[in-house]
Amino acid sequence: MLLTDEAPTLTRTIDPAFRRDIIEGLSRSPKATPPIWFYDRRGSELFEEITDLPEYYPTRTETALLKAHGADFAAAVGEGRAVVEFGAGSARKTPHLLRAIQPAAYVPIDISGDFLRVSSAELAQAFPDLPVLPLVGDFNGPLELPKAVEGLPRLGFFPGSTIGNMEPDAAVDLLRAMRRLLGKDAMLLIGMDRIKDRARLVAAYDDAAGVTAAFNLNLVERINRELEGDLPIDGFAHRAVWNDEKARIEMHLEAVRSLHFHVAGQCFRMEPGETIHTESSHKYGPRDERLLLRAGGWEPACEWTDAEGLFTLVLAEAG
Ligand code: AVJ
Repeated sequence: MLLTDEAPTLTRTIDPAFRRDIIEGLSRSPKATPPIWFYDRRGSELFEEITDLPEYYPTRTETALLKAHGADFAAAVGEGRAVVEFGAGSARKTPHLLRAIQPAAYVPIDISGDFLRVSSAELAQAFPDLPVLPLVGDFNGPLELPKAVEGLPRLGFFPGSTIGNMEPDAAVDLLRAMRRLLGKDAMLLIGMDRIKDRARLVAAYDDAAGVTAAFNLNLVERINRELEGDLPIDGFAHRAVWNDEKARIEMHLEAVRSLHFHVAGQCFRMEPGETIHTESSHKYGPRDERLLLRAGGWEPACEWTDAEGLFTLVLAEAG
């Protein structure tokens, strides 16, 4: 009998959507994988660390805007709305908004049920009179709002410039889906990251402490852990590049030598210098951001930008 001190092996169930996306992405030329797979437990922790980095200005800037302009939000959206947050995650920015506008309900949506349960419980404690109705789901898929918010006017909340992760066509599709879900008289408060100095942008995605590099490389480790991968961690380098033509920061994992590895039984090779494109983070000029919203069925009504012009919050009305 073979005796080990390991816990009895539970056969790990492979997430079929993760496997499909990774196999498909690595089979493509050039290789590209969807950024949603960054966010396992470790990835979510690393992202939280990113938001505190000196180089990563978006979170700090957007939070300051939310804190500073509460009275403006209250005047523009009124009381008694149901706030629906898309991709709530740790929902650290939400209390500033909820405090300002006296909503009638709060519906945080997130794919990670664990994260959602914890952040919803915290919010419910901080706002004892507010009904908190978490919804586990992918906001890129079909969703149904809880019965309890029927008849209430809605305010969608989509902070963090998460919209920037989407190609323009997908961003428009998502805005339209939000418009449909939130209904008549809805409003949307959305954070969008501005085009700015290239060095500042690159530094925000290639920080001195290497946290963003660890965040990017965690995808390699996750593939190895969850998809029976044997990718050599030291075979990849983190790259952040500004694509001026497309106005976006791209993150890549670059092969530092010729590589040969397996994922879920399939064989892949990479030439030295070849990359896996793991994320795009689109940035917008003032007109780009309004055009995108209009294309998605939303008419911009007010906007707030910090003094340095780094980041913008736009409030739009269902068109
Ligand atoms: C969570 C998508 C807004 O694009 O800035 C941070 C993710 N990637 N550093 C962003 C991210 C690398 C972030 N978003």
